Amino acid sequence: MLSANFVEKVCVLGAGSTKYGKLSESIADITTQASVAAIESAGIEPKEVKASYISNVFGVADKQVHIGPVLMSRLGIPDRPSLTIESACGSGSVSFREAYANIAAGFYDCLIATGVEKVTHTGTEWTTTYFAYCSDFFYEGQAGASFPGLFASMARAYLTEFDATEEDFAKVAVKNHDNGYLNPKAHMQKKISVDDVMKSPVVASPLKLYDCCPFSDGASSVVLCSEKFAKEHGGDYIEVIGSGRGGSPAALQGREHLTTIPSTKIASEQAYKMAGLTPKDIDFAEVHDCFTIAEVVDTEDLGFFEKGQGIQAVREDRTKLNSDISINPSGGLKSKGHPIGATGIGQVVEVYDQLTGKAGERSVKDAKIGLTHNFGATGASCAVHIFQSV
Ligand SMILES: CC(C)(COP(=O)(O)OP(=O)(O)OC[C@H]1O[C@@H](n2cnc3c(N)ncnc32)[C@H](O)[C@@H]1OP(=O)(O)O)[C@@H](O)C(=O)NCCC(=O)NCCS
Repeated sequence: MLSANFVEKVCVLGAGSTKYGKLSESIADITTQASVAAIESAGIEPKEVKASYISNVFGVADKQVHIGPVLMSRLGIPDRPSLTIESACGSGSVSFREAYANIAAGFYDCLIATGVEKVTHTGTEWTTTYFAYCSDFFYEGQAGASFPGLFASMARAYLTEFDATEEDFAKVAVKNHDNGYLNPKAHMQKKISVDDVMKSPVVASPLKLYDCCPFSDGASSVVLCSEKFAKEHGGDYIEVIGSGRGGSPAALQGREHLTTIPSTKIASEQAYKMAGLTPKDIDFAEVHDCFTIAEVVDTEDLGFFEKGQGIQAVREDRTKLNSDISINPSGGLKSKGHPIGATGIGQVVEVYDQLTGKAGERSVKDAKIGLTHNFGATGASCAVHIFQSV
């Protein structure tokens, strides 16, 4: 675990995103748009940025890998280093963590972490196949178990083990679409009903179309800096107070239970310990809801609810915006969208907007502490971060 003997406190000084959805611009263009938006939001010049961390999985789909130097050239700072990080759908949170650790250790005073993905032009068959390369392909992908199928296995296990129904899962999607409806950058900015979910086509039983996140394009970026740098440059900033990472067996068959994700528990325990907080202190959380079942399992593994009680909380509307704990005020992966390399950074953008009063109609009232939770594949890798307003 990270020791607390860091040189610097780490802050997020600015944040920006493209809209998520089907985008026509190139991967290089959307990477640049989000990064410029984050730098402008921070109120600094590009030359203040000493390095970049880029999270991306399938740059090859848009004929551009090694995106970092392209971005730095476009920002007019080609002499600055960059590093591309791939950790499947959890790439964003891992690159955020690397950027965080570099500031904390005193290597740099100001960095950007930018996540990007562009896959909607490739078609469902290509994208489903390539995404399956992020699973343990020998045991899962090549046997035909794509991500909807793997999460369907988890959902079936949850329905069997606990007092839950498919309508309860549908309520997760309805809530996240309600939140995403208030988010102008969301891929699916429309309200849906439980009936809409129940009548939507079955993708992998018991999961239906509206239980699944969509394939999305999009880019998100944040400026990280030392506290000293943040104070000198003014503007709105938030503080990173907890960071944790964990792992789980890559294939579901290696797990003891299908209704819990070990990496979430490991990462969140580290983050809570570092922040000196418990789950009860969290005002809102952006969690990895690639499928409705995932959000329920996440909220239990993060300690917000007892095992098997996450679904009860959904049934009682305790995870809605401004209820007991606002889960996915942005609309989450389900409604905001899931451009896989960008998602973990997009979560930090939402926390920044919430804690600096920029979240508009979807603001979590009096929020002081926000948490991000982002994993790769079925949770083989995971990172959790905790932030507080200043
Ligand atoms: C669910 C899924 C199979 C649907 O793909 P698809 O059948 O190719 O859907 P299409 O792109 O042809 O879209 C068909 C319609 O459904 C809508 N749609 C697609 N995916 C949707 C989703 N997840 N939720 C709601 N609506 C969706 C489209 O907007 C479109 O609506 P329209 O006809 O009104 O324009 C696909 O979105 C998917 O696999 N999602 C999961 C992605 C994933 O695994 N990510 C990694 C997680 S770990």
